Amino acid sequence: MSLALSPAEKAKFAAARRSVDFIEDGMRVGLGTGSTAAWMVRCLGERVRNEGLKVTGVATSDRTAEVAVSEGIRVVALEEAGWLDLTIDGADEFDADFNLVKGGGGALLREKIVATASDRMIVITDPAKEVAQLGAFPLPVEVIPFGWQASQALITELLEGMEVAGREITRRMAGDAPFVTDEGNLILDLHLKRIGNPRQLAMVLNQVPGIVENGLFIDICDVVIIGHANGRVDLRDMAAGVQSQEQVDMDNELNLFADLGD
Ligand code: 5RP
Repeated sequence: MSLALSPAEKAKFAAARRSVDFIEDGMRVGLGTGSTAAWMVRCLGERVRNEGLKVTGVATSDRTAEVAVSEGIRVVALEEAGWLDLTIDGADEFDADFNLVKGGGGALLREKIVATASDRMIVITDPAKEVAQLGAFPLPVEVIPFGWQASQALITELLEGMEVAGREITRRMAGDAPFVTDEGNLILDLHLKRIGNPRQLAMVLNQVPGIVENGLFIDICDVVIIGHANGRVDLRDMAAGVQSQEQVDMDNELNLFADLGD
């Protein structure tokens, strides 16, 4: 049986499948959050079971930890792992300099801690996430619940002096209740439309009392793997200045996951 997936999902799978080839025996690996990262965790589980690959995973969210454990991957806390060889994660947007917007899944705090505690970060994505300028995707900012309205007011003030095209801020909801992160915090989504200077914005946002972290990842991502629905993957390596194209065998690979379609 073959798994029926949308073109976007096939593209995510292709990127995820290619990314796990970067994982070597004995590595400590940061496991991202989101639908693309979930494919990566499943593909890694496949390698653990089929090849006896020994890896230690550090999950960037409770839900990723659950999937990883169910895939037979050993998961430990970052405190235990110490330093990581590699983190593989998705993104909501990326630009030509590999600056990212992350946090669409609300896991940006752990994601940033894990990615910056790694020798390398690989971002896996579909082509729709590539942008000339960041900002169309609302920028997630994690704030502590205490006095969150005061933090929001300070952000509004701060945005007046920033190169952005929109200034609306919404508190993220999960149905009728506020969305709460794994760390017990809230997410404010900044509808900026265009971020002229992501580096500056990332720095000043973190000066606001109550803000724990923002979803701008600057100088963190090393490699981007862009998957396409037909199995083509584009690999871009910033440090090596290398770009290449490869092909993932989609039919054979996806058949391994056919049970997910049941
Ligand atoms: C979660 C994230 C995700 O990586 C981002 O939202 C992309 O998710 P998806 O792969 O489902 O499109 O930052 O906090």
